Amino acid sequence: MDTRDHDPTILNEADRWRARDLAVLWHPCTQMREHLNLSAAADGGRDDVLPLLPVARGEGAWLIGHDGGRTLDAVSSWWTNLHGHAEPRIADAIGRQAHTLEQVILAGCSHAPAVELAERLLALAPRAPGTAPLSKVFYADNGSAGVEVALKMAFHWFRNRGDEPRRTKFVALENGYHGETLGALSVGDIPLYRRVYAPLLTEALFAPSPDAYLARDGQSAAGAAEDAADALARLFDDHPGEICALILEPRVQCAGGMRMHDPVYLKRARELCDVHGVFLIADEIAVGFGRTGTMFASEQSGVMPDLLCLSKGLTGGFLPLAAVLATQTLYDGFLDDSRERAFLHSHSYTGNPLACAAALASLDIFAQDDVLARNRATAATMARYAAELARHRHVADARQAGMIVAFELTRDGDRRAPFDPALRIGLRAYRAALARGVLLRPLGDILYWMPPYCIDDAQLAQLATVTRDAIDEATACA
Ligand SMILES: Cc1ncc(COP(=O)(O)O)c(C=O)c1O
Repeated sequence: MDTRDHDPTILNEADRWRARDLAVLWHPCTQMREHLNLSAAADGGRDDVLPLLPVARGEGAWLIGHDGGRTLDAVSSWWTNLHGHAEPRIADAIGRQAHTLEQVILAGCSHAPAVELAERLLALAPRAPGTAPLSKVFYADNGSAGVEVALKMAFHWFRNRGDEPRRTKFVALENGYHGETLGALSVGDIPLYRRVYAPLLTEALFAPSPDAYLARDGQSAAGAAEDAADALARLFDDHPGEICALILEPRVQCAGGMRMHDPVYLKRARELCDVHGVFLIADEIAVGFGRTGTMFASEQSGVMPDLLCLSKGLTGGFLPLAAVLATQTLYDGFLDDSRERAFLHSHSYTGNPLACAAALASLDIFAQDDVLARNRATAATMARYAAELARHRHVADARQAGMIVAFELTRDGDRRAPFDPALRIGLRAYRAALARGVLLRPLGDILYWMPPYCIDDAQLAQLATVTRDAIDEATACA
């Protein structure tokens, strides 16, 4: 179905927006040249072109253009949106809050949305038998800032205890991603984002990824995860008393290509952290709030981290907010007469009431609509479509964790034979899908679906058809 039934006179408005945008905006995570190449492409010149999609409004899983054309948001607007765009219950909650208290300094002041949200997050957070639950919430205003908070807390706790200068190192996973600020980038391992800033980064130790896609021939996902955990154990053994925290993305390394791993890895990682007295930081910024099937991915391993980083879906995708949940042990390590032993980290908008109100409304929707149960049905439909696409000759792997599905495109479906990166297969698929009314945003040559939870059966059918057509068109050059 072509939903992009344009009125040519209004279409000009979309073009006018593109021109106004490119005259003044510098877009995130974008080689701007690829947008600017549009005119060159129109002259028949170039192929490395990234179309810019002007969006006038959103409605459910749709992004709607100035011409009324509809595009399916298959990536939940960078994995933030949960219940659909412009969801009225969240929009109303923000409106009510805006008429009550829009912002107040959270150092020295308190407000109801911040307190209520902290209470509810702590009640929902993963638990482990015999372990005191996570008991304190520190707010920040985006995912990277949340990661900085967790890293600094872990380091500072040991310093307060008098372990400095020895406990200064972080362990992170190969192919992991934790954001773009310098601290978060230091524990990230995606060369495209990291390499150029390497001279500015603090040193981190990287352990092999438990990624099931890297399993040896005949090896199970659990086997690959166990091997990776053994390697982590050796790394810990090689640095006794030097490591303050391990940071990882439970279950799915999202920016690393939606690479998934067996839950046994997190279980083993928790055990190793306990043995070595190292804090475990679970970065659930992308996988939290139901993305992988359970409310939090850590639950699938029966693990409670010492620090849990949340953002993205926290507000249902409406406003930037991060929450770092910490154990009482961590919190107590900062209680002292000295201000230097306090955690003096702050952002102006820490715990913004509008963002907290949005988050509370999103949590209400989880209960009102029984979102996790509905997602199980949606994920089963996604699995059926994924199984069909898995048979495509260029799909080397189709994998799923709850509401995330990913397709690894290679030459003739052979894992060891990736496409020549110069072919830009992912970018071609992006353009092909966009022309058919679906916003995919491939990670290299990996296509994935991570839609808003409100996506319906007809939209899923469109998503599957368009993905197949996009793969066909993109790989025709190979
Ligand atoms: C796992 C993970 N951690 C941290 C971040 C950084 O979040 P933000 O983009 O809000 O800074 C991201 C963003 O994609 C992420 O996927």
